[in-house]
Amino acid sequence: MDPRRPARFLPAFGLALAIASGSGLLRASADQLIADFEGSNHGGWTATGTAFGDAPAKGMLPEQAPVGGFRGNGFVSSFHGGDKATGTLTSPEFELSLRYLSFLIGGGEEVGKTCVDVLVDGQVVRSATGREEESLTTATFDLGEFAGKKARIRIVDAATGGWGHINADHFVLSDTAATPPYVQDPGPVDDYSEALRPQFHFTAKKGWLNDPNGLVFFGGEYHLFFQHNPQGREWGNMTWGHAVSDEMVRWTQLDHALLPDTLGTMFSGSAVVDRDDTAGFKTGAAPALVAIYTAAGGTSDASKGRPFTQCIAFSNDKGRTWTKYAGNPVLKNVGEGDRDPKVFWHAPTQRWVMPLYVGEKDPAKLGKDGKPAIRHVCHFYTSPDLKAWTLASKFPEELYECPGFVALPLDGDPGQLRWILWGANGEHWIGVFDGREFKPSTPKLKGDLGANAYAAQAYDDLPDKRVVLLNWMNGGKYPRMPFNQQMGFPVELSLQSTPEGPRLVKWPVKEIGHLFKSVLRDDLKRPMPAGRHDLKARSDLLDIELEFVPGEAKSVALELRGERLTWDAAANELTAFGRKIPLAPAKKTVGRRSDFARPWGPDFDLWDGSVRLRVLLDRTSAEIFGNGGIVAASYCFVPKAPPSVALVVEGGDLPKARVTVRELKTSWRP
Ligand code: FRU
Repeated sequence: MDPRRPARFLPAFGLALAIASGSGLLRASADQLIADFEGSNHGGWTATGTAFGDAPAKGMLPEQAPVGGFRGNGFVSSFHGGDKATGTLTSPEFELSLRYLSFLIGGGEEVGKTCVDVLVDGQVVRSATGREEESLTTATFDLGEFAGKKARIRIVDAATGGWGHINADHFVLSDTAATPPYVQDPGPVDDYSEALRPQFHFTAKKGWLNDPNGLVFFGGEYHLFFQHNPQGREWGNMTWGHAVSDEMVRWTQLDHALLPDTLGTMFSGSAVVDRDDTAGFKTGAAPALVAIYTAAGGTSDASKGRPFTQCIAFSNDKGRTWTKYAGNPVLKNVGEGDRDPKVFWHAPTQRWVMPLYVGEKDPAKLGKDGKPAIRHVCHFYTSPDLKAWTLASKFPEELYECPGFVALPLDGDPGQLRWILWGANGEHWIGVFDGREFKPSTPKLKGDLGANAYAAQAYDDLPDKRVVLLNWMNGGKYPRMPFNQQMGFPVELSLQSTPEGPRLVKWPVKEIGHLFKSVLRDDLKRPMPAGRHDLKARSDLLDIELEFVPGEAKSVALELRGERLTWDAAANELTAFGRKIPLAPAKKTVGRRSDFARPWGPDFDLWDGSVRLRVLLDRTSAEIFGNGGIVAASYCFVPKAPPSVALVVEGGDLPKARVTVRELKTSWRP
C-alpha cells in the first residue's frame, strides 16, 4: 500500500465487531429505530433553511456525486440547492433508553458546520462530521452517561463552501456499539486531547506529516522539522513543519520553516550547525543553522517542468526564520528523483558529507516501457562549504529513500568506530567510512520488524555524543482526527557485537522519565504461575518492562487493550499485531537494561536465559523492544478495547518473572 494513502476508516469494521462479539446481530431485536427516512417526507423531523428540501433523497441530488452506503431507499441530504444552501433538520424528542446511538453519515467534515449533533437539555453533547466522502459510513455515539434522559438529533448544514453539505440515515439506539464510539473532539485542534491523538509521540497540530527532517540540537533545543501538509490530512504541498523540545519528549510546534517555491515543494533533508561558518551565513555571535533539502521540482504548479535538486537555507535566529540561499540549487539534478540529503561534518577530512538517494538508469534491466529500469542507490558527495558539492563515491547496493548514515562505537569502544548506512525501510549495512567511501562488513540487515516504521533520521551531533533515531510511524489511521500520522518515540542507538556480527540496538531515550506519572505495577514472582494475570493497569499511556525465564511455559502473552503480543517458546518468536519477530531467551549481556530504579534496586542484574520485552504504549501506537532493544518493532493501531494489561502464561509456570508497568503523563501539557 502506498504509505501516502493510508486506507480510510472502514465501515465494514463495525459489522466485524458485531459478529466477533457474537451478539450484535442476534440482539438486533432489542434495537430501537429512531428514523430511517424511507417515507415521502421527513416524518416528525423539523427543518429550518432550505438545504434539506421537503423529503428524503433517494440517491444523488442534481449536481451531486454518486452517493452510496445508505440503508433502504432513502436518506437525508442537505445538498438540495447545492453546497451553498444551509439548514437544519431536528428530530422529535426521544428517550435514551439504550446506551449507543448508531447512524450512517457522509458529506462534509467541518466541525460544528456539517455535522450530526445529539442534544440533551438543549446542549450539544455529541457531534460527528462526515469525511468529505459522499458515501455514508457507520458512526456510533456512546450516550451511557445520559441514560434515561430525553434527547434530540439535529443534522446541521451551516457550511456554504466546497463539501458544504451532510448526508445521514438510519438512526438506531442499541445496547451494542456498531463501531468504536465516535471520537472527534470538536474543541480547538491545538488542544491535543482528541481520543486518537498520541499523547507522547509527536503529531502535527493539524494536517498530514511524514518523514522527520533536519534533526539538530542547537542552543539548548532539539529541533524536529518534518514533512508536512499544512493544508490537509493527506500527503501533499510538502512544507517543512517545525517543532522544538528541551528533551525530545515534550514538543512545541512553531511556524513552518520552509515553504514550497518555484524550485519545488520541500522534500526531506537535514540540518547542521555550521560551527566554523564554512558557508559564510553567520550574522551574529552564534553559528548559523543550515538546512539542506530537496526542492521537488514538478510537484506543484509553480515548479512545473523542473527536476528534483538539492538546495540550502539558513537561519540566524535559532531556526525561527529561514532564508533560502540565492545560489540554489547547490546540487543540480544528477539522476532520477534524487532526494533526501543527510549532511554531516566529517572531522577527520574537514569536509561536509552528503549521502543522497539517487535513481540511476540500469541498462541491464528494462522497465515496462522498454526504457532502462531505475535502481535506487546512495551517492556520497563532499563539500568544504555546503555550497559546492563533489561526487566522492557511489554505494552500489539498492536501498530505499531517505538514506541515514551515522558512526557508533562498537561495544562502546571509541577506538572501534563503525558506520551504519540505512534506507527508509530500515534495512542497513554496518561497515567503515574514510570520508569518501562506505565499505560494508555485514550483509544487508533488517531494521524495525514492525509494520509502521519508515524514513528514520538520527540526531548525530548531540553534545553528549548519543545518536538518537526518530521514525515516521507511517500508515497509522486516525479516523476523524484533525491530524494524520505520528512520529516514533526517540530511541538511542548503540552497536553490540553478537556471534553473528555487530548488531544495532535501539532503546527509548531515558528522557521518557520526564513523563513518568506513577508505577502501577512492580511484581517480582518466583514462580509466576500459569494463568491469566490482570495487571490492573487501566491507563492508555504506559511503559511496560517484562522479563521472564520461560521454564516449561509454552507461551507468554502480554495482552494490551485486547491485542495479544504472544511469545511462543517452540518457535522462539513473538507475534505482535499479526507479525512474527524472532526472539529467543538471551544472555543478560544482550541489549540494554532499564535506565530506571526498580524496587529490587536500580542496578539489579538481568537474568541469563530470560526473554525481555519493553513496550511503549500510546493511544494509537505500540513500540516493542525485545531483549533490551536488539530487536525493535513499531506498530500503529486503532484501539479496539478499553485500556487493560494482562499477562497470560500457558503450558507451565514461569520459574521467574518480573514486570514493571509505569503510567505516563501526556507530553502535550506540563
Ligand atoms: C520518504 C519520502 C522522501 C521524500 C519525502 C516526500 O517518505 O518519499 O523520499 O523526500 O517522503 O514527502
